[in-house]
Amino acid sequence: MTTNIVSYFERSSVTRGRCASAFLTVVLNLSVATSSCAVAQRLASDARTPPMGWNSWNHFADKVTDADVRAAADALVASGMRDAGYVYVNIDDSWEGDRDAKGNVQSNKKFPDMKAIVDYVHSKGLKIGIYSSPGPKTCAGYEGSYNHEEQDARKYAEWGFDYLKYDQCSFGDIIRQQAGEDLAKASSMQRVAYEKMHKALLHTGRPIVYSFCQYGLYAVWKWAPENGANLWRTTGDIKDNWSQMSLIGFQQSGLERFAGPGHWNDPDMLEVGNGHMTKIEYQTHMSLWAILAAPLLAGNDLSAMTQNTLSILLNKDVIAIDQDRLGQQGYRVWAQGPLEIWERPLENGHKAIAFFNRGESPMSFPVDVATLGINSGAAFTDVWQKKTTILQDGSEILVPNHGVTLLRGK
Ligand code: GLA
Repeated sequence: MTTNIVSYFERSSVTRGRCASAFLTVVLNLSVATSSCAVAQRLASDARTPPMGWNSWNHFADKVTDADVRAAADALVASGMRDAGYVYVNIDDSWEGDRDAKGNVQSNKKFPDMKAIVDYVHSKGLKIGIYSSPGPKTCAGYEGSYNHEEQDARKYAEWGFDYLKYDQCSFGDIIRQQAGEDLAKASSMQRVAYEKMHKALLHTGRPIVYSFCQYGLYAVWKWAPENGANLWRTTGDIKDNWSQMSLIGFQQSGLERFAGPGHWNDPDMLEVGNGHMTKIEYQTHMSLWAILAAPLLAGNDLSAMTQNTLSILLNKDVIAIDQDRLGQQGYRVWAQGPLEIWERPLENGHKAIAFFNRGESPMSFPVDVATLGINSGAAFTDVWQKKTTILQDGSEILVPNHGVTLLRGK
């Protein structure tokens, strides 16, 4: 089977079709995403809905160890998060050691046995992700994949990884040196580098979700799906504070047409539970990410989570909005100063409506059913308050500062 897949990929190039249509299984183990934007070939099971799981960076950064990752896997199971869909356990930067004499990448002493940790995570019914860079060094100064792409992809597959985050980091220096002010050359160098790793991943024959991380440079959303991305970061790094989270989240407006099943805009990982936002702000963060069909990668210490944090991460109605099978990213339908209304079309004619108050005091939204595209008197479920809200022309929705009212209905 593997030989068939590899030779299939070697023979063909990019598949083009219509974005809205579903994945098509062409051989037992192989899917081709058909899309109105061009979408690269990929192996089966890749991110039909936005990936969910956990990533080590936002909390542990370069201190993460084998024990932390195992503890995260244990906590995903014990907390019920795995069963709610959080299945990827992603090791971010700082696992890398030196290469051996043959150029094979090795883990450093914080991760004494990669195969063992992969097996451990898999034994919990979870999947596992790894991190690298197209540059010679990662952002934290560890070994990158520059000139070792095929070899590294083979190693990830041999260890059993299911997901790769590929972070530009020092490749930016190479682009600057070689392209200077030549934007077309810079953009092309980046595409080539990301596509090179995509091909290397395909050659392994192992389905590996491919996550681009180059901070939205060169309008990545326009070319990432064609170059193999299942998801691509659209901005610089998130931080655990209201201003950076809301800046990143709300600036996704306009990118909705680039996302769809198998290929997603990624406004970065969650900060829920990291301690520097209020409960209301974390609810806004989670709601906005769900409206955006964003990957839900928790970034907190799962083994020391409060009930408040868990209740936000585990809100099944919010997760269902994020993971809706229609795969259509939401968009802004109305804005007035700091007040914004966003909607996301969902399966079966449902929709999610989010009333966001970015301001510094509680404020009321006027309900205008024409703007909302609903019938006056329609009954919606408030997914945080767990109550029914009737949306009547002329009524008002009161939302606290930095807060959200998130509704689902038709
Ligand atoms: C970059 C990425 C982060 C994280 C760090 C690791 O800043 O954007 O998400 O992966 O590198 O060094």
